[in-house]
Amino acid sequence: MTEAQPTREEALLLLKKYNTNVGLIKHALAVEAVMRYCARKHGQDENKWGIIGLIHDLDYEKFPEQHCRKTEEILTGENWPADYIRAVLSHGWGICTDTEPQSELEKVLYAVDELTGLVAATALVRPSRSVMDMKAKSVKKKWKDKSFAAGVNREIIEKGAELLKIELSELITDVIMGMREVADEIGLKGNPDISG
Ligand SMILES: [Fe+2]
Ligand SMILES: [Fe+2]
Repeated sequence: MTEAQPTREEALLLLKKYNTNVGLIKHALAVEAVMRYCARKHGQDENKWGIIGLIHDLDYEKFPEQHCRKTEEILTGENWPADYIRAVLSHGWGICTDTEPQSELEKVLYAVDELTGLVAATALVRPSRSVMDMKAKSVKKKWKDKSFAAGVNREIIEKGAELLKIELSELITDVIMGMREVADEIGLKGNPDISG
């Protein structure tokens, strides 16, 4: 069998087959949107970047103990292209895989995955509860408060920014810009009547 490029519809069906948790689906949509934004910025294949972002945590709800490994098994069974599978595995570099991010796509996925969580958490404590009017500065303030969104591994984000050779502020801005495009779907559009 040849490896056909998966479509977004196929990826979304697969995601929903293995995930019912609304928070996890919102995370997948957030990472997809940021990957799409960054693909455009890098002049790359937006659909491919987006689909990999959408599917990256496929196994997390049902097989948290086998995170990444189970996704590899599922996507291989679905005959997904090897480079898609490699990219997904690389987001768990040093945690659940030893697949080091190499391509621009892989480095971006690695860098933005955890950061979407910090951006979402920061948006939710703002008066507007929105990413639409949020700046990198707000996230940087929360960055320093290690007890805030303590589950977000700041070291991984820093390592990602290093791999990409970009400033943390630029990375944060990219994540905010990407998440704005799906703000409604991920519950971060906030209240338009309140600014802040
Ligand atoms: Fe993950
Ligand atoms: Fe993730």
